[in-house]
Amino acid sequence: MRYAVNTTHYRDFDTYEVNRLPGRVYAIPYSDREALRRTPFEKERTSSDQVRVLSGEWDFKYYDDIANLPDMLDTDAVDFDRVHVPSTWQRTGFENPAYINCPYAFDDAPPQLPQKMPCGVYRLFFDVTDADKVFLLDFLGAAACIDVFVNGAFVGYGEGAHNTSEFDVSNYITAGRNELLVVVHKWSTGTFLECQDMFRENGIFRDVLLYELPKTYLRDYEVRTVKTPEGYDLSVWTDAADGTVEITLMQGDAVIAETSAPAGQTAVLRGLRVTEWNPEVPTVYELYVTLVVDGRPVQTVRQYTGFRTIRIVGHVFYFNGQKIKMKGVNHHDTHPVRGYALTFDDLLRDVTLMKQFNVNAVRTSHYPPDPQFLTLCDLRGLYVVDEADIETHGCGCDPHNDIDLISHDPAWAPRYLDRVRRMYMRDRSHPSITMWSLGNEAGGYYNQDRCYEFLHEVCPEIPVHYEGVCRTDRVAYDVVSEMYTHDKDMRGVRERTRGEIYAGKPFFLCEYCHAMGVGPGALEEYWDLIYSDDIFMGGCIWEWADHAVLHTDGRYTYGGDHGEWRHDGNFCVDGLFYPDRTPHTGAREMQVVYRPVRASYVGGGTFRFLNTNRFRPSGYLKTTCEVYVDGARVSSTDVSCDIAPVASADVTIELPQTKGDCFVNFIYTDGDQTVAVEQIAVREAPVASGVSESGEVTAEETDKYLTFRFDGGEAQFCKTCGALRSYTKDGVSFLHDQPVGKRGFRLNLYRALLDNDAAPRGKWRWDGRLHHMACTFTGLTYSGTTVRAAYTVSGGSDKLFELTLSYTIHAKGTVEVEAKLLPCCDKGFIDDLPRFGLTVELPENMRLVRYYGRGVYENLPDFKAQSPVGIYTAAVEDMQEPYIKPQDNGNHGETRYVELTNADGVGLRFAALDKPFSFNVRPFTQALLCDAAHRENLHDEHTTVLNIDGFVRGTGTSSCGQDTLPQYRVNAKRGLSFRFSFSPVAAHKE
Ligand code: GAL
Ligand code: MG
Repeated sequence: MRYAVNTTHYRDFDTYEVNRLPGRVYAIPYSDREALRRTPFEKERTSSDQVRVLSGEWDFKYYDDIANLPDMLDTDAVDFDRVHVPSTWQRTGFENPAYINCPYAFDDAPPQLPQKMPCGVYRLFFDVTDADKVFLLDFLGAAACIDVFVNGAFVGYGEGAHNTSEFDVSNYITAGRNELLVVVHKWSTGTFLECQDMFRENGIFRDVLLYELPKTYLRDYEVRTVKTPEGYDLSVWTDAADGTVEITLMQGDAVIAETSAPAGQTAVLRGLRVTEWNPEVPTVYELYVTLVVDGRPVQTVRQYTGFRTIRIVGHVFYFNGQKIKMKGVNHHDTHPVRGYALTFDDLLRDVTLMKQFNVNAVRTSHYPPDPQFLTLCDLRGLYVVDEADIETHGCGCDPHNDIDLISHDPAWAPRYLDRVRRMYMRDRSHPSITMWSLGNEAGGYYNQDRCYEFLHEVCPEIPVHYEGVCRTDRVAYDVVSEMYTHDKDMRGVRERTRGEIYAGKPFFLCEYCHAMGVGPGALEEYWDLIYSDDIFMGGCIWEWADHAVLHTDGRYTYGGDHGEWRHDGNFCVDGLFYPDRTPHTGAREMQVVYRPVRASYVGGGTFRFLNTNRFRPSGYLKTTCEVYVDGARVSSTDVSCDIAPVASADVTIELPQTKGDCFVNFIYTDGDQTVAVEQIAVREAPVASGVSESGEVTAEETDKYLTFRFDGGEAQFCKTCGALRSYTKDGVSFLHDQPVGKRGFRLNLYRALLDNDAAPRGKWRWDGRLHHMACTFTGLTYSGTTVRAAYTVSGGSDKLFELTLSYTIHAKGTVEVEAKLLPCCDKGFIDDLPRFGLTVELPENMRLVRYYGRGVYENLPDFKAQSPVGIYTAAVEDMQEPYIKPQDNGNHGETRYVELTNADGVGLRFAALDKPFSFNVRPFTQALLCDAAHRENLHDEHTTVLNIDGFVRGTGTSSCGQDTLPQYRVNAKRGLSFRFSFSPVAAHKE
């Protein structure tokens, strides 16, 4: 068949739609109401007799330049490839993946597009038995735009990648075989509104649906609920042209209420005594809307309905009359293999994980999701901030440099409105929608004002959010929204010192705590603030999952790995979860910080539990209280914790009398799910400050060496380099065999940069040259059994520090180590170092680790809620957190001791003196970690590298947000020192 495919709709500014039907509700109709009733939601889309999911194997032809697409395309002559729809060109091998954050993929000024532009032609045959029906064709997502043809004829054009494009194809369909042809262009003028930070993909990436409806049919309906003194009124408006509309509100098998109304009129159920919907107990009713024509039901749809009220009063956001806090995340559509194309199971998994990780809110950054996602949020319980598919970030980048370029240009207003209207029309009946969002990073506000006015007129009950407006005179719509607000400014909001608008509206963090790499830091500190004032309605962590491309050999790639000429590196790898939804440590941290119940110690064995839920008493949780003395569990009891929402209650627990550490872990479980483990330190015993061992130590000095002999072993120091060159006991040598200059303890001030080291990295590398720091030995002295080695630390030609390492050898072989660092420059990093620690390499076979400190997950001083203090064992290999872009990881703070042993249980024990230390241990060196761009670059270097840090910097979130707070920095201005000891251990008996 021949098609005049060479349209220019995608390029013409005035055409952003041709023959596209106006937006409407997403619903899957069935001819038989009972059949629909029996169909669970998971199967709804695929088993309707009035909807055909056309997704599957399609013919596909890729043209790298539209110039190669003939004006008249004869589909019989095209040598098609086959692809699965939904999918994208970048994930099916027709184009390389490409990741960009802010800019557009090309430099042309809006609305110009590059001349050379790829396109893809999709073809599908489908059969129709009875053509005497109404046929609607829906594309739930296609980027950038579609020209649709059926049986040789042009049907229409649509853009707005994440909005539904719907066409009435009734006049084109014939009985028998039909040919559907879709030309997808890589870009359209609408692309200027789709400059989101993500892999930029193309193709038909969501389902294509063919509705086959009776001649009299129901296309759109609207459910509204209003609270009255008598209960809730529910009204249903439909667009049916004829017949009667019956509505039935059900809960399971029970009919709650029913009524009917002639087509064109609104059916109303009044005074419903229903349970309200909220994300903690998402009570959902099924509303069946049936069109009856000539006494016969012809079409039924099911709308999951919930009842709730949203109100803003002054600076407080109320949901069902409660002041709420959104424990949120930002969710992009991203799959390691399929990119934009998420299946129902993918969506279900994300929603399930969100619930498991104590998330109660999701912002659909930065576009409307597949509509099934919203129903899942209704059913499972999540507040949703539904965002329009609008971002013009590239207008604020070279070469355009004006973020407002489009948003202030009235010529674009209809297109903004189109996208917001389509989002609203599609999603308007979901109880989970808590705010509408006008988009992201689009400057503004001229065109946003039009959208705001529209939403307020049609939907006054749901507040409107748009962050970009905070940098304009308008400042805010219904809530003040900011991203990555720093501590100081958060305090300004709380103290009402940031201006009138800030004082008068609820404050929402649409993005905060950038979860890139290790971190986010200071999440708990944010929540201390959020809980401290009603003005704060919470926020959404950026972001749910890493975006990266998984290859068949197991490798992950990110921006720049695919030959992109413009890209933003690993900035797409910034999630709480890996692309395959394995949790990062950040997700574990979030799970604890977002916990529903929070305990605090009052004293005298009494703990106060606060139920942070707004709607649900905490009795559904089982609370187990485990008491630990010096790391050993001494009791485990279930405590009763049924507390009303927002209330608190005291529980007294019998605590042991001890001079040691006493930690209490509260384990909250819901069925077989661990909701959170919260630890309270009741008592932290002082850490030992010395070692005493009876017996004799002898010293022997030669030209080169200084050797101390103790019971069964010796420690030898090199007089020319200061190093501990050997340490043996009972015939075992405990240092990795390597050149003497590298043996023993070495200073470590640096770390393989964290993504969140973005703020300090400049001063460390360029000002301090800490990554190429040199430690020059200046002399060794000894008296008694104490040896002192002195060094000068320099970065480039600058002398930075004096370092002294002292060792005191005891009779049974224990060695006390003290490291002292004194600054001898006043460079900017002196009060802000990555760490101050010592590294030592142990034999390759000492790979079993047992420690008493924060674990089992990695942690840092501002990133530790996930890691209670305890005694843990692990293999070195398993203590590496496999970040896609490697960085310093696997730290365990507040460690009292750590043992590294071989398979026979022989090894060393490192014990803190004066105060706990932090450590990490790896099968490779820091140098390898520093150089690795991908986790595949890391490999076992046949050594066991232990870092013991007296001081280590927090992580913060400065990859896109605030740096670690001052109290979590390593300040060496006045000098720093720390101490620990090491001694041989034999097999440990449990
Ligand atoms: C925000 C933006 C997000 C993302 C994030 C950084 O400014 O809204 O889309 O780019 O920064 O990861
Ligand atoms: Mg952006």
